Amino acid sequence: MLNALHAQPQDKILQLIQLYKDDPRETKIDLGVGVYKDATGLTPVMRAVKAAEKQLWEVETTKTYTNLAGDPAYAEAMQALLLDGAVPADRLSAAATPGGTGAIRQALGLVQLANPEATIWLSNPTWPNHPSIIKYLGMKMADYRYFDADSRGVDFDGMLADLAQAKAGDVVLLHACCHNPTGANLTLPQWAAVADLLAKTGAIPFVDIAYQGFGDGLAEDAAGLRLLAGRLPELLIAASCSKNFGIYRERTGIVIAVSPKPEMRAVVQDNLAFLNRQTYSFPPDHGARLVTMILNDPALRADWQAELEDIRKNMLTLREALAAELRRLSGSDRFGFLAQHRGMFSRLGATPEQVETLRREHGIYMVGDSRMNIAGLNARTVPILAKAIIDTGI
Ligand code: LMR
Repeated sequence: MLNALHAQPQDKILQLIQLYKDDPRETKIDLGVGVYKDATGLTPVMRAVKAAEKQLWEVETTKTYTNLAGDPAYAEAMQALLLDGAVPADRLSAAATPGGTGAIRQALGLVQLANPEATIWLSNPTWPNHPSIIKYLGMKMADYRYFDADSRGVDFDGMLADLAQAKAGDVVLLHACCHNPTGANLTLPQWAAVADLLAKTGAIPFVDIAYQGFGDGLAEDAAGLRLLAGRLPELLIAASCSKNFGIYRERTGIVIAVSPKPEMRAVVQDNLAFLNRQTYSFPPDHGARLVTMILNDPALRADWQAELEDIRKNMLTLREALAAELRRLSGSDRFGFLAQHRGMFSRLGATPEQVETLRREHGIYMVGDSRMNIAGLNARTVPILAKAIIDTGI
């Protein structure tokens, strides 16, 4: 039986991790996978996470199962962090999941149970795992225009024109903030226009929020999501705590469904618990418990927010430094978009050949579509990257 298997296509992002590891050059620079790194190249355990782990070790008396949908206190804390009361709690159903990817998987599972014919609309481009999971599940998908290659901003007219084709019951996947892979994001008035369009077509928004706090701030990064939640009857959310709590390997995420009416909440909740049971039974708890402790303890929360804010500002400083150095070297403002983009990623707009040249000749690793992880830089490597970009003719 096993001889019938074929090799699966390699994940372009994860492939880079190995290539980078295998490169013996000491001068190599990793701008690949979306993991935050400080100036020394370390992905630190956040102070509040360490403190919560210590407390948990003291007080935890059992590791028995929680609930199929995870601990309700985690759902409550995450709903407040994400939605801040934009929707009454009696319309919310939620389930803890292994990371944001688990949440995406369960949200799509919910769509499959409710409307197997739905087309999932994806931004062009999007995180490669989105179409990969949708294809694996045998669901339909379509693209909407998103990134404008010339301005490196959002092609908003194209986006609206394409989304006008979505039908009632289709699902439109949107990145709440820090768009992956481009770094180009919607303004609040643009979110409002998307909400109007979705209200008209009856297509349902599905918001992937994996970088809350990495763009303009915790509240600012959820503003578009909250606007949609406040205006539309139905909404799906896949949220990740990997990045903003720095707990990547703990696999901590949550899927949230907003129902039109409180009467529907119980059956939606039941379906989410069912989906967990069918895929992995109980979701992981350790990371979720740490997040709950941090969000509910004022001192831990304040410290977490302060450290997250430092991380966010560090990425902004790197963006500005890179844009300034490129302005100096190129004598033009054509890289100004780097300072406008938000989050960990920016799409540079280089050709695959130029990306390859950067890797081969300069030991600079970025994803083949020229997505750079800004957090992979530091004050020393910003000028090195800028010079390599210019030398490569980008
Ligand atoms: C990324 O886009 O680099 C991250 O979300 C990590 C991943 O799993 O791809």
